Parts: sequence; structure tokens; C-alpha cells
Amino acid sequence: MNNHYQSRDPGWRRSWSFIAATTGATIGLGNLWKFSYLAGENGGAAFVLVYLICIVAVAMPVMIAEVILGSRGRSNPVDTMRHVSLEAKASSLWQIIGWLGCLAGLLVLSYYSVIAGWSFAYAGKLLDGEFVATSALLSGDIFNDLLAAPKLMMQWQAFFLLCLFFIVALGVRKGIALATRSLMPLLFILLIALAIYSSQVGDFKAAVDFLFQPDFSALTQQALLDALGHAFFTLSIGVGAMLAYGAYVPDQRSITGMVSTVVLMDTVVSILAGLAIFPLVFSLNIAPTMGPGLMFVAVPYGFGNMIYGNYFGALFFVVVFMAAITSGVALLEPATSWLSQRCRWWRPAAAIVTVLVVWLLGLATIFSFNIWQHIDIFGMSLFGLLDFVSANLLLPIGGLLIAVFVGWIMRKEVLRDQLDIESWQIFSLWHWLLRYIAAPGVLVVFLWSLYPWLTTLIIK
Ligand code: PHE
Repeated sequence: MNNHYQSRDPGWRRSWSFIAATTGATIGLGNLWKFSYLAGENGGAAFVLVYLICIVAVAMPVMIAEVILGSRGRSNPVDTMRHVSLEAKASSLWQIIGWLGCLAGLLVLSYYSVIAGWSFAYAGKLLDGEFVATSALLSGDIFNDLLAAPKLMMQWQAFFLLCLFFIVALGVRKGIALATRSLMPLLFILLIALAIYSSQVGDFKAAVDFLFQPDFSALTQQALLDALGHAFFTLSIGVGAMLAYGAYVPDQRSITGMVSTVVLMDTVVSILAGLAIFPLVFSLNIAPTMGPGLMFVAVPYGFGNMIYGNYFGALFFVVVFMAAITSGVALLEPATSWLSQRCRWWRPAAAIVTVLVVWLLGLATIFSFNIWQHIDIFGMSLFGLLDFVSANLLLPIGGLLIAVFVGWIMRKEVLRDQLDIESWQIFSLWHWLLRYIAAPGVLVVFLWSLYPWLTTLIIK
């Protein structure tokens, strides 16, 4: 009786910490900013459906695999891969998964932090009433003014990175777990409130039709690719984040159960974000296809023309900023934990060095909108190149290597040992999906996303 009580209570709390931190890592700009514009660009419901299939059949099995690696290796991403490859009697070259993860995390964070900075700037702009009774054109001008102000962007990016520094420097228990455990529930409540607000003042029916009534003729090859790629981005796979968080997974817990909870929450947030954004888009006749600017042009325009819209709009951007913080922490953690564990650096020192590297890398993104606007590499701006290299190259390579290593190289008994709570059916289904659907699936995404780039290279 006593034993039962002791094993349950702390266990429940630790599972919740893991779920909250991982949910925090997965929910971010991907759900609030990218998902809505991708759905808008790709015709809505058909895209949403394909995206959901990709999440369940491809991305989720890889996510489980990444968490298993972390929980087996119990270290920073590089050392975790060293431990598991030794155990599997495989080449130590598999450590590349950890290295790539640390590198990709820092690269993604370099532009992620700039966009997160914009969100905070926008919260202030809305509160100041800059968007009250604005026109769509004016809203676009305000966005362009921000892009033309590198100093301002540098300040907001630095502010975001400073927040990350404090959380990561405090460590896993106090910093990451505490921050995500308090921010995540707040984020859910605010998003639900915003979706209700939007449904009252905007065109809710049009939004629901757009998001849930599939028109398969709108589905292009690009949409399939976007859906698959975004499934990886939104679940934070392939950048070492889940390797790092997997190391903190409590023993004797169902990894598939915890990951499913996280995936469910991530998906609910994306849908809620769609339900908060699209009623405004449709009631104001904004084109849902307008691309990455959707959130920064349409949303403030939408809120600016609603009653109390400046307050609700400011709240919306605070929510975006909070979601970006908990994701940013996950992007920073792999490199920080490597520096502090492997190189035995004091954790705050490791955190400040990684933050500084990210801040410097971020300058390339900031300047690519203004003073370095003319720089063109393979037809891409510096920001485009960073996004391409990290999201389209490093992330799928990381995901593919993880799927191959766990699905084909690690022994089944070891995997079974990590998934010991799961039934055989669930274990076998996961293993089968990883081997035969996820690994080839990632390869297809990777080659497809590389294809247009290669052709432009060859044509040049
Ligand atoms: N999943 C995060 C989002 O949707 C982005 C992210 C990617 C975070 C990789 C951590 C690691 O915004």
C-alpha cells in the first residue's frame, strides 16, 4: 500500500513534467504562425487531413523513436548516441545524429528567435492602438516598417534570447519544467478564449468549412510535401530536442502514452489557432493564401477592426511569444547540455555562449530583410537559406537517421525494454510503422524537398 503510494505520486508529477516540457517544445510558431499560413496556402481541409495522416503514420513513430534513444542513452544528444551505438555494437559515427541535432537546433533558433521577437513587438503595437481601424494596406506597411528596422529587430530578438537564457541556465528541474508547467495551461486557456472571441466577432462558419470540408482538387504535390515537412517541424523531430528531453523521461512510464498525449495537444493547439485566425480572415475578406505574412498582417488587421480588438490582439501575440519561448528552450537545450556535460562547463556559462552564437547567427536573418536584401544564394535570401538548410535538409536527415538507427539497427529486445509498459500489439505496430512507413516516408520528403533546389542548381 505504502509502496504503491510512493511510486505513484512522484511518478505522476514527473510524467506531467515531461509531458508539459515536451508539449512546450512542440507547440510554438509552427502551430500558430506556420500551420495557419500553410493551411491557407494549400486549400485548407484537404491539407489538414493529409497533415494529420503524416503526423500519425510518420512523424509520431519517429518521435517515439527519438524519445526512446534519449531515455536509453540518458545524456546530452551526442553522448546519448555514443551510448546507444556502443550498446548496439554499431559504428560510433552514429553520434552524427547528436551533432547534427545540436547544429540544426541553433540554426533553427537563429531565425525562430527573430520571428518570436516580432511577436512581442506586435503585442506592444496592438496595445498601443496602432492597428485600430487600420486598412489591410496600412497593416502591410506597418509590417514592412518593422522589416526595415534592423536595430529594433535586434533588440526584440535579444530580449527573446535573454528569456531563454534565464530558463535554460536554471536547469532542467527548476527552469525548463517550471516554466513549461506554468506557461502551457495558460496558453491553452488563452487560445480557447481567443477562438471563442473570434467565433463571436468573425465568420466562424466560413472558417469551419475551410478547415474541415476537404476539397481534394486543391491538393497539389507541394501541399503533400508541406504537410509531411510540417509534421516533423511541429513535433520538433530531428533536431536533438527529443533526444535531450527523452533523457529526462521518468522510468516505468509508457513512452507511447506520453508521446500520444503530447501529439494530441499539439494538434489541438494548431486547430484552435486556425479557429482563432480564420474567422477574422474570412469576415474581412483577406486572402487566406497570403503566405508567411498572414499572422503579422491579417491578424492585427483583423483584431484592429473588432471591438476591444487591440486588447485581444495583444493577448494573441503574447500567447505566440510564450509558445515560442517553450520551443526555443528545446532548441537551445541540446547544445547547452552538451557543453555543460561533455565539456563540464558551468550551465549558465554554457547557456550564455549558445545564446550569443544564436544571436550572432540571427543577424543574418535580420539583415536579409534590409541591408543585405540584395544577397542571393541559389535564389534564396539569407533567411531563406537558413530556413532551407535547417528545416529542409538537417531536420529530415536527422529524422531519417533516427528512423533507420532505431528501426533497423537497435536490437528489438532493447527497444522492448524501453517500451516495457506497452502491449505487444502497440509495440509491434509502432515498430512496423517506423521501419516500413516512417523511414521511407522521410526519405521521400527529403528527396522531394531537395529536388526543386537541385534542378535550380543544375539549370544555373
Ligand atoms: N515545434 C516547434 C514549433 O512548432 C519548433 C521546434 C522545432 C522546436 C524543433 C524545437 C525543435 O514551433
